[in-house]
Amino acid sequence: MISVADVAKTFPDASGNPRTVLDGVSFSVAAGSFCAILGPSGCGKTTLLRIIAGVEKPDLGEVRIARDPGPGALGFVHQQNDLLPWMTAADNIEVALRVQGYSRKTRCGLAHEYLEKVGLASFDRHYPWQLSGGMQKRVSLARAMAMGAAVLLLDEPLAFLDFQTKKGLQQLITDLHLQHQQTILYVTHDIDEALSLSHKVIVLSGQPATVRTVVDVPWHDPGAGVWGEFPRRFPCLVEEIKEMLADEDGSTRDADGRPRLVGSI
Ligand SMILES: Nc1ncnc2c1ncn2[C@@H]1O[C@H](COP(=O)(O)OP(=O)(O)OP(=O)(O)O)[C@@H](O)[C@H]1O
Ligand SMILES: [Mg+2]
Repeated sequence: MISVADVAKTFPDASGNPRTVLDGVSFSVAAGSFCAILGPSGCGKTTLLRIIAGVEKPDLGEVRIARDPGPGALGFVHQQNDLLPWMTAADNIEVALRVQGYSRKTRCGLAHEYLEKVGLASFDRHYPWQLSGGMQKRVSLARAMAMGAAVLLLDEPLAFLDFQTKKGLQQLITDLHLQHQQTILYVTHDIDEALSLSHKVIVLSGQPATVRTVVDVPWHDPGAGVWGEFPRRFPCLVEEIKEMLADEDGSTRDADGRPRLVGSI
């Protein structure tokens, strides 16, 4: 569904010198599959999603999305708050659904249905500035899901959430994925989450980011209630990925050279 071929991107740094952020990044994501992206902070994950979404141009290489998903069919949950500040939570979702050609009644119904799914039914009339950072992310997630997008690009959608809320929303994302079979690219710093949710995990190196490894998750079976269970059964894989990510930055190792990271990067 998504094919990323030899993508490279360079930005000017603070002094105007070129800094290569992505260097020859290639991978593909099968239609209907769930693919996580892990990589050290600042390596270029958000830049990569923006290139896939078509809002940033690569310097080299190309991105192809099979069967052009059409307007409104590519959902993007941005890492930063992306809600319209002058609209309530419900209106932020409702307005995004206009492109689908739904009636106002259907749009309002969907907005409330998905706000309820993300646990914000009673916050429908709140403006973004009246919501916490985690709540704003949930509205953004509800909006992307309500749009019924064939391709979902999720940039750390569950960052800043407490453990229980995060688990509930992981289950919701899995259930909706099982139901609608969207193609999902999911950026996270949480290795367990990546391995629990995904068919495939792409591990990027530090800047300039290249594909360090692609893990085909052997146990992927979200219908069986995956939360935390399978990564614990395969601790070697979790440790291997941790080592790989820790290698990118000496500061993540303790005095004995062991990775300092526990559970997530
Ligand atoms: N428009 C821009 N102009 C200049 N530099 C940029 C621009 N956008 C991103 N960068 C740089 O590109 C690098 C990668 O940024 P990006 O946001 O893609 O990282 P990331 O992997 O998503 O990090 P994090 O995990 O912290 O979200 C950073 O060094 C950042 O400063
Ligand atoms: Mg980012």
